[in-house]
Parts: sequence; structure tokens; C-alpha cells
Amino acid sequence: EKGGYEHYMLKEIHEQPQALRQTISGRLDTDIGDVDLNLNIPEEYLQSLEEVQFVACGTSYYAGEYAARLFEKIADVRATVSLASEYMFDGGRDPSRTLTIAVTQSGETADTLSAIRTAAEAGARTLAVTNTLGSTVTREVDDSMYIRAGPEIGVAATKTFASQVITLAMLSVYTGKRCGSLSGGRASTLLENMRAVPGAIQQVLDREQQVKAVAEEYADSDAFFFIGRDLGYPVALEGALKLKEISYDHAEGFASGELKHGPLALVTETTPVLAVLTEGSRSEKTLNNVKEVQARGAPVIVASSMENEKFVDELFKVPSAGLFEPLVANVYWQLFAYHVADSKGRPIDKPRNLAKSVTVE
Ligand code: M6R
Repeated sequence: EKGGYEHYMLKEIHEQPQALRQTISGRLDTDIGDVDLNLNIPEEYLQSLEEVQFVACGTSYYAGEYAARLFEKIADVRATVSLASEYMFDGGRDPSRTLTIAVTQSGETADTLSAIRTAAEAGARTLAVTNTLGSTVTREVDDSMYIRAGPEIGVAATKTFASQVITLAMLSVYTGKRCGSLSGGRASTLLENMRAVPGAIQQVLDREQQVKAVAEEYADSDAFFFIGRDLGYPVALEGALKLKEISYDHAEGFASGELKHGPLALVTETTPVLAVLTEGSRSEKTLNNVKEVQARGAPVIVASSMENEKFVDELFKVPSAGLFEPLVANVYWQLFAYHVADSKGRPIDKPRNLAKSVTVE
């Protein structure tokens, strides 16, 4: 049932191209530059929309962080993200002009359900983005969208993160088109970029042996720091979560620009720094931060779509995919986490103290 893979997590990492083809299947119309999402959200409501709020936990929260940045870039709508367990409906918002989106793979996460109920009680329109047909969240919201990633068994979320981001990207195109802020030409480019993602991820998967060798080389490091900017920042956070969750090593994600405001004190020759340098991640600026950590002797591992990163210790090539390049880079971090954990013999599919679906607050 693991299809020849040693763990479900590895199988699910490799399923991403196929899962994403399912996610976008029949939903992209590149000719007219629009998406067909089968949603019944009134156009007048979208035209007067003031804020999109994402509520989620864990990996789904990082998908929300990625999506909020896409919404601002693509639909020109103010987008906020809350950890579901911290969510409040703040005063000063007009609930009738607010769309609250619960991002949840399982559709059963207690904190996320509680947040979406708070939003609904305040009078906001609610939408669920989930992998699970008929899950509890779908019965609580005004509209639902399925990410169609297929069942995910490993506790570590992998393919569902990719499918969540692409689903939310389609939703940002839908919103941008209906509020009039997104032109057909730009939308077509975005849809082409989305179509490129499965193939780009396949190219990353084809380089698994390179990632495995690097992971084994650095597996015994004292700590691992992931850095990124803009769309690369949620990927840094997600990379660190994946690594700590399954390897039990100390890993943290930082906004690249924050390093010099504190975390740089932790950086030594025994703390590799993993950086994303791609489109959508303001790589020229992150490059300066890479130099800062190199000056402290830290090994630097870079996932990049740029051409000139010869000075880094390890370079993972990211094929071009526009604003989805950081999402493609994330697959390197998934493989890296997997191989660090596997080299230590960790119970990858069922890490200690964790459950696939967290149904208590
Ligand atoms: O089912 P959900 O997406 O609501 O779950 C949220 C988190 O519990 C989940 O993403 C968790 O962080 C994963 N184990 C991370 O790999």
C-alpha cells in the first residue's frame, strides 16, 4: 500500500505532481484567463470585499501565509492570516465585507473549527478549503473548495500543502478577476505558471539522490535554520516545521531580514542555513543575508532558480514557475527533512507526541 516506498511520507512527497494535476483539473481556462471553481459567491459581494482572512494551524497556516501574499499580489485585496488558536474577530472590520477562509486538510481541526465559528457569528462570509469531503468544517461554512490531493496518511503534511497553495492561488485569480483588479493577460500567465508546477516538482523529485547525500552529510548538525523572504518566508517556516516534526532536531524558520535582529547570534559552523532564492522571494536581498551567515562560517544550502549561486556550499536547482517557485523549492526541504530523519531511523509516519488530526483545542 506504500507503493514500494519505505514510508507514506516519501510516497506522498512523490505523489505531488499527480496530486496537483488533480487539484487543477478542469479548473483552469488559460484562453480566457479565468478559473472555473464552481463557487456561488455573489459578484457584488466580491466587488465590495475589504479583507480576506485566513485561519489555520500548522502547515495549513503556512499555506495561508503563502496565499495571503498571493492575494495581495494577484487580487490586490487586503489579506490577513491568523493562527486559528489566536483568532479573534477584531472591531473596526465590517463583517459583511470580510471573507474568512479556513484552510484545513482534515476539516476536523478543533482550533480551526472554533475560529470559523467565531467569524460566522460575527457575520463574516465563510469558506472552507479542505481535502476531506463531508468533513465537519464543510458543514459549518457558506462555501467549500476541495484541494483533491487524495488521502494523506503520513502525519507530516506534504502533498496537501502544495495542493492547498495551488487551490488558494486559483481562488486569488477568481477573486482578482471578479473585483476587476486582475487583467486577463496577467491571469493567463499565472495559470500557465500553475500548469508548470507539476513538471517542475517532478524535476526536483528526480534529484532526490543529491538531496539525500546533502541531508546525510549535515544530519548531525546542532541546529538547522531556514530563511526566506516574501513567498519564501512561509516556505522557510514550513521547511523548519517538517524537519523538527520528523527528525526531532532543532530547526527554525526566519524571515531573512530578521536574522540581524537576533537569530544571527545562534549561527555557527555547525548550524546549516537553508535559503530560498527564487522569483517571488526577493532573492537579491536574501543573498545579502546569505553572505551574513557565511561570514559566521555557517554552511549554506540554497534552493534557487537563479544562475549564479556558485559560492554556496550546496545548490538545489529550482525550475522556473513564476510565483510558484518557492512552492517548488519547498519540495527540496521536504526531501531534506525526510532523509535527515530517515538517516536517524525515526518513525517518520508517526512522530512521537503528534496526531494526524488534532480534535482538541
Ligand atoms: O488538518 P489540518 O490541515 O487542519 O491540520 C493542521 C495541522 O495540525 C497540520 O498541518 C500539522 O501541522 C501537520 N502535522 C504538519 O506536518
